[in-house]
Amino acid sequence: MRKPFVAANWKMNKTAAEARELVSAMLPGLQSVTTVERVICPPATTVPAVSEILSGTGIGVGTQNMHWEENGAYTGELSPEMVKEFCEYVILGHSERRAYFAETDETVNKKLKAALAHDLIPIVCVGETLEENEAGKTDEVVIREIKEGLKDISKTDAVKIVIAYEPIWAIGTGKAATGDLANDVIARTIRVPLKEMFGEDVAGQIRVLYGGSVKSSNAAEFFNQPEIDGALVGGASLKADDFPKIIKAAEL
Ligand code: 13P
Repeated sequence: MRKPFVAANWKMNKTAAEARELVSAMLPGLQSVTTVERVICPPATTVPAVSEILSGTGIGVGTQNMHWEENGAYTGELSPEMVKEFCEYVILGHSERRAYFAETDETVNKKLKAALAHDLIPIVCVGETLEENEAGKTDEVVIREIKEGLKDISKTDAVKIVIAYEPIWAIGTGKAATGDLANDVIARTIRVPLKEMFGEDVAGQIRVLYGGSVKSSNAAEFFNQPEIDGALVGGASLKADDFPKIIKAAEL
C-alpha cells in the first residue's frame, strides 16, 4: 500500500509575510489529516519562514528547483546542502522549468542524483504539451522523460522518488484531465517503464501523483484511481480553504 502524498507548488507567489499568513491559516486543516504525506513547496525566499512554522508539525517543506553542484559560480542557483538546511523535498523538472528555463531530461537526471545523494525526496515532474498530446505523442514523450530522467538510479533510491504526471495542457488552465485518462496514461507511460527499469516490486512502491487544475471539487476523482497516489497542486494550494480539503480527499 503506497501512502498518499499531496504537495503544494506555490510557484512564484507570496512574499515571506504573505506565506506566513497563508500557511498559518491552513495549518489546522493540514494537521487534521495524518495519513497523507503533506508537503508545501513555497518560493525559495519564503522557505525559512514556512519551515519555521511547520517545524514539528509533520508537514514537510520543499523547494521548487535545485542545482546539482555542491557550490560554485552558479549565480541564482541553490545547492543541495542549501535546500537540505530547511527542506526534506525538492520538485525537479517542472514543465515550467523545462519550457522557460532550459531544463532537460539530462539536467533533471543530474539534479535527481544530487537530491538522492543528499537524502532529499525528489518530486520529478513529467508530462506532455498540448501540441504533443494532439499529435499522439504523449506516450513517446512521457516514457522518454521517465527513462532519461531516472537513468542510472539504483532500486534502493528509486523507491524514494515521487513522480508527478502533469499534462501541460491541464496546468493552470482549469481543464483537468479526467481521472480515467490520467490513470491510463500513468499506467502506460510511467508504471510500465518503471517496471522495465526497476522491476515489478520497486515500480509498485513508487508514488505517482497527478497534477493539473486539481481542486477540492475534483480531487477525489483522481485519488480514487488505482495508479494515482496523490496530487501536485498549483493554484488551489494558494487557497487556505481549498488545499486542506484536497488533503482530506486523499485520506486513507
Ligand atoms: P495548477 O494546479 O495551477 O494547474 O498547477 C499544477 C502544477 O503545475 C503543479 O506543479
